[in-house]
Amino acid sequence: MSVRFRVEDFIKEEKLRNIFNQVFDYFTIEAIHELANKGYIDYLEHIVSTGKEAHVYKARDKSGNVRAVKIYKIETSSFKNMRAYIEGDVRFKHVGPDRRDVIYVWTRKEYKNLEKFVEADVRVPMPYAFNQNVLVMEFIGDEEAAPILKEKPIEDVEELYKRIVEELAKMIYRAELVHADLSEYNILNYNEEPVIIDCGQAVLLSHPMAKEFFERDVRNMCNYFRKRGLEKTPEEMKADIKELKDSV
Ligand SMILES: Nc1ncnc2c1ncn2[C@@H]1O[C@H](COP(=O)(O)OP(=O)(O)OP(=O)(O)O)[C@@H](O)[C@H]1O
Ligand SMILES: [Mg+2]
Repeated sequence: MSVRFRVEDFIKEEKLRNIFNQVFDYFTIEAIHELANKGYIDYLEHIVSTGKEAHVYKARDKSGNVRAVKIYKIETSSFKNMRAYIEGDVRFKHVGPDRRDVIYVWTRKEYKNLEKFVEADVRVPMPYAFNQNVLVMEFIGDEEAAPILKEKPIEDVEELYKRIVEELAKMIYRAELVHADLSEYNILNYNEEPVIIDCGQAVLLSHPMAKEFFERDVRNMCNYFRKRGLEKTPEEMKADIKELKDSV
């Protein structure tokens, strides 16, 4: 007789178990079970973020490597918005009618986007595996997760501008993806190096809204740099990105 896989099997601490149990059901436990069987997850160690859409945990795989595990909530409030980022993307045409399907496609989309970014040498977390609403990726940080740029600015703002322009050029010209939610909230400061996260909504350049999303990303970053005392207009930033077209 097979023994039911339980939350106790991958979360040792009671407090953390309670947090998990408040949000996730047996389907998520099953999804983790399959990832555990393949060695991608051994246990969840602590919680990094309890957001509106997802929980992010610091975890260990079977060999003891540190991992980040992002688990999307099924009852997320913005799942209607998610459709707009899925349906215009030729990679994910077929998405079922219910909430669960949308979230599963979204998780797969984030995994695929991370893969494409890694291939294009954009600095994002390396994706390792996904199953249903669970994504396993590189943990950015040491003991603690690296802070977001909003909380801990990278000091050399000129250098940061150069790095972001480079990353945007690699995204557009090599990965052929628009991040579509780029801001100081989705960039981590890992020892003064920017790491771009939260890539579920990124879309192919052929998406009907790609241009608008790109313009918004550029505007967000210009607003951030202005607050940091570096004045760049979106036109200037776009020109700087374009200049790298043949060299990234
Ligand atoms: N690979 C990672 N390594 C370390 N920390 C991470 C990683 N991915 C995410 N985090 C942490 O979790 C937080 C939320 O992650 P992310 O931005 O991907 O989710 P989100 O979709 O914005 O979630 P929500 O909208 O629900 O807050 C990040 O701000 C960061 O602190
Ligand atoms: Mg985020």
